[in-house]
Amino acid sequence: MAGLFALLGLSSPQVAGLLAAAVLTLCVWRRYFSPISDIPGPFWASFTRLWHIQRILKGDQNLELIRLHDKHGHFVRVAPNEVSVSHPDAVRKILAAPLRKGDWYKVVAFPDGRFVNPMSATDPAVKNELSRHLAPAYTLPNLLRSEGNVSNVISLLFNWLDKFSASGEPIDLDKFFTFTTSDVIGEVIFSKQFGFLNEGRDIDNTIANAHPQAAYVSVAGFFRWFHVLCLSNPLITWLGVTPWGHLINTAMAAIKDRQANPDAGFDALAHWLSALEANPKMQLHEVHSAAFNAVAAGNETVAAALQAFVYYMIRHPNAWERARAEVDAAGIQGLASFADAQKLPFLQACIKEALRIFGPASMGLPRVVPKGGLTIGDRTLPAGTIVSVNIWVIQHSKEIWGPDAREFNPDRWFREDAASLEKYFIPWGMGYASCPGQNIAKIELSKICATLVRDYDIRQVDPKHEWTWKANFTVTPENWPCYVKKRETI
Ligand code: HEM
Repeated sequence: MAGLFALLGLSSPQVAGLLAAAVLTLCVWRRYFSPISDIPGPFWASFTRLWHIQRILKGDQNLELIRLHDKHGHFVRVAPNEVSVSHPDAVRKILAAPLRKGDWYKVVAFPDGRFVNPMSATDPAVKNELSRHLAPAYTLPNLLRSEGNVSNVISLLFNWLDKFSASGEPIDLDKFFTFTTSDVIGEVIFSKQFGFLNEGRDIDNTIANAHPQAAYVSVAGFFRWFHVLCLSNPLITWLGVTPWGHLINTAMAAIKDRQANPDAGFDALAHWLSALEANPKMQLHEVHSAAFNAVAAGNETVAAALQAFVYYMIRHPNAWERARAEVDAAGIQGLASFADAQKLPFLQACIKEALRIFGPASMGLPRVVPKGGLTIGDRTLPAGTIVSVNIWVIQHSKEIWGPDAREFNPDRWFREDAASLEKYFIPWGMGYASCPGQNIAKIELSKICATLVRDYDIRQVDPKHEWTWKANFTVTPENWPCYVKKRETI
């Protein structure tokens, strides 16, 4: 490049001046002449992605987007080429439609950028074809065959709660719930716990390290070249120095063991390895990716949902007592089964409401406007624009949920309009890219929440203290120690 400039006879100051002029022209074009330049939003977002990234790293992107939609309406420009949409039709026209996913998703390629998996695939046809091999592992009947193993893990959690109850020491539920959901994923995917609950500690700081890793992933997707250069390249894979730690090392070792000894249980790996055998087109890296994605996506999310359930229930007048009365009346003995918990309408409404008010996924879900544009409400967005739907924005919309949209109110699920609001309840996303692990989460939430409300009283060490959380990739609460007390009458 320097040679080219010399050839053109340009001095360094002239080159610098030309570059500055080019950048300025680009900024002015993006701000004032792009086809979406009239869409309101933060000034900086109109010509640089950095505004969005700064919000993601700050950890409040969800609240900031709600605030911006309150101020500007259905369309907010969050980056030069991305519009966040809160119109009620957004769920149907953006998420439920087979639109291509934004390039951000390519960041989750595993083990490096050469490979494609259902989450990193942006073409819906490719995504669906890859998911087809993996889907049987996630059906409810297949997962329930592992319910006994899941119960074993959950019993370890309750042993810890009993210990904290006896000692009177406060417990950090964020940690113990994440230990539990991580160990459940190990059981469900490859019949092996990671050992967090057995040891009662964050082995190798895996969970603590997952937070900066998640923050990295959430922004690296916008700079894929940087990610490929640093981490997601064949050299790193060949050297075996990927930075994902204990969870992924354990998962990969479990896959290796199972290949040597394919005595299948009922776990996900059993389904995937038999799909591998039956489909000549399927490759081993697809099994590795599926395990990686499950391990990466399946622990913090469910732990956040469990925490939201407890946090909002203990702060809402009578909710805990009402749920307890319902479980008592059902006469459920021991650790609640998934089937038992399905017969508890108020408890299920409370779980649902926790997932609505505090959806664990905080990133906007980006899709690309197809040829011919996309009309939502009175606005047509041009082809190529990235349109994103943020779960928090939809689930906190007063236009959709009414004036009490931002309050935790399980009784909303018994109102007359509840059935018509289901389509806006999107904690798992919606459409072809929605969460494949939602049945795992529902099993965990049902079993744990039913048993928890029946057997324990929980209160914050300082009930006036609001919890804090960070919304990078998922929303991770922290810093809200609680006392647990085992109920005496049982
Ligand atoms: C309360 C718990 C959970 C919530 C709220 C949740 C939510 C989500 C959301 C919103 C997406 C993205 C949808 C999109 O991009 O449009 C997603 C994707 C995904 N989730 Fe979950 N999830 C949860 C639990 C789990 C669990 C337990 C697993 C374990 C297998 C899991 C595995 C995945 C995977 C692998 C993807 C990527 C999509 C794909 O590969 O097809 N999730 N989840």
